[in-house]
Amino acid sequence: MKILVTRKIPAELLVPLESEHDIVMPGSTGAMDHEQFLEEMTDAGAVLSFLTDPLGIDVLNVTPRLSVVSQMAAGVDNIDVDACTARRIPVGHTPGVLTEATADTAFALLASSVRRIPEARDYARSGEWTEWRHDLLLGEDLHDTTLGIVGLGAIGSAVARRAAGFSMRILYTGRQRRPHLEATLRVSYRSLEELLAQSDHVVIAVPLTDTTRHMIGTDQLALMKPHASLVNISRGSVVETGALVDALTTGAIGRAALDVTDPEPLPADHPLLRLANCLVVPHIGSASRLARRRMMDLAVRNLIAGLQRRPMPACVNPAAIESARLRLDDEKHAAGQ
Ligand code: GLV
Repeated sequence: MKILVTRKIPAELLVPLESEHDIVMPGSTGAMDHEQFLEEMTDAGAVLSFLTDPLGIDVLNVTPRLSVVSQMAAGVDNIDVDACTARRIPVGHTPGVLTEATADTAFALLASSVRRIPEARDYARSGEWTEWRHDLLLGEDLHDTTLGIVGLGAIGSAVARRAAGFSMRILYTGRQRRPHLEATLRVSYRSLEELLAQSDHVVIAVPLTDTTRHMIGTDQLALMKPHASLVNISRGSVVETGALVDALTTGAIGRAALDVTDPEPLPADHPLLRLANCLVVPHIGSASRLARRRMMDLAVRNLIAGLQRRPMPACVNPAAIESARLRLDDEKHAAGQ
């Protein structure tokens, strides 16, 4: 079977697959050209994908042999998972192994933003730093403030654990209340509106879905405190970009720190890259050496399990494997095996 690995990963990870499969992998960690990606996909039986690979219905419609998708990311919003399930294609992903690294990034962004570290670095390098001043680059506090976490999943919970060490009062919102976590993490549930109005800092940690797309727009930003900061480590389009630019420009909110943006990458002249009160980094949430290595390992383990029609260690649609096994059993039965 042809296995397409859409970006270069260390070749040794693929050794267990080499004898039985034809592995196609580009020589670069950059994205494949879109035309080439489409061409390679047409006869691929399995794909090890990345969050930039568009695996929507239009692509699935031209990949008749595809039977396994294994993505090296926790988020799978680039994949039409329902269409994969209908085609009995299991979709693997890599949650868990990136949780702590991504929560570290959220906290690093939060601390850097509220204490204006990027501006302070620019100032120190600029030649303007000629004396100490008591009113230089004043920011906000982290300790003893209120942090609102939108989405108390694994990463949101890991952010809450870090916030506890900074003596922060922690609010959360999400699809449902999490009574167990409320007790263990000492977090309090609020509606999204209440959380935005009551928090000094807000961290967005929800997956991108039809429900969460643009969940933070002009009306929501207007509820936030004027000194509040917004940190986004989920997906750029959870926040309406135009509304965020306006809120940062008019002072409706204090600052933003973004690991993810919409569009991504941002054009070099985009206002979010120009505003002093906005810190943008290029989607590096899980980019610690160890986390990325663990993500690759897990993606390969998911791929191998999918190829063998075994349950993947981390699968977003386990029903696909089950129905594929039933189909295999039916086929064997019909063939008298
Ligand atoms: C990164 O954004 C991921 O979803 O793993």
